[in-house]
Amino acid sequence: MIRVRGLAYVLFNVTDLDVACTFLTDFGLEVSDRSSDRIAFGTADGNPYAYVAWKAEQNGFLGMGLEASREDDLDALVSAGPGKRQEPLLPEFGGSRVTVENPDGYRIDVVHGRDWLSRWPVRDPLIQNYGTRKQRINDSQRPPKGRVPALRLGHIALRVPDANASAAWFGSHFGLKAADVLVTPDAEERTVGVFMSCDPLQEITDHHSVFVSQSDNTGLHHVAFEVQDIDAVMSGHDFLINRGYRMEVGVGRHMAGSQVFDYWIDPFGSRIEHYADGDVVDARHAPSRIPATPEGVTQWGPIPPEKFFQ
Ligand SMILES: [Fe+2]
Repeated sequence: MIRVRGLAYVLFNVTDLDVACTFLTDFGLEVSDRSSDRIAFGTADGNPYAYVAWKAEQNGFLGMGLEASREDDLDALVSAGPGKRQEPLLPEFGGSRVTVENPDGYRIDVVHGRDWLSRWPVRDPLIQNYGTRKQRINDSQRPPKGRVPALRLGHIALRVPDANASAAWFGSHFGLKAADVLVTPDAEERTVGVFMSCDPLQEITDHHSVFVSQSDNTGLHHVAFEVQDIDAVMSGHDFLINRGYRMEVGVGRHMAGSQVFDYWIDPFGSRIEHYADGDVVDARHAPSRIPATPEGVTQWGPIPPEKFFQ
């Protein structure tokens, strides 16, 4: 087993690269490399490609990349059996890659040593005045309007036939740990979803980098990009509405992971999320069991539509 540090990238086929470019740029990503058959998009943390779109006849999710902690981890995956050495996905950004075939049919790359780009300058978090605590004195709140930079690729949610089995697989291969478990709201409390964090070791990590959600239909549920704060989620929401994109559900605050969420359907039919203020965990975190009900998904804000739960 190795311990991955987080998501590296997500991969899609799209029927129109120009449409993908316009949407993803509006969503806050930036083109880091383009050729006639694909576009790579980076994020503000310097990730050289957090999202790669290939020109294809049909739209579809192709797979995901995980960031290994060490080059040795790639060797360990190969010698243990599941990993196959591959050329770097985008050789111009360097690094090493192995590919692991997931039992649920997902392609998972594990990468290390890509050349990261300079971080983009982004605005500082806003200073909030609370009801019982004032910390912004003689200063106004002026969050910028318009496009909001995507700081980083935060998490991915996958539909799987058996959430327990998938969670065990991610745990035994990549060291992912259950952060919270969704269960049926009946007395049996059967698992229907597992929010999985990377192993935090001595640090902190996102509440979940991977969510496996039990479903009769396997496939991508969504990918999520973090933005600076709640005002950024709202500014992005207004901007994307004004650009004519299709909002699915938002803005609200999730239960598991606590993110302030905003979900969109991209021009190719995939669900994509902006979020802020998500939980982070360290090695002391103990998972809870959360009833999987529409109301249980959201602390405040709109309840997601039925399709969200399929
Ligand atoms: Fe999410």
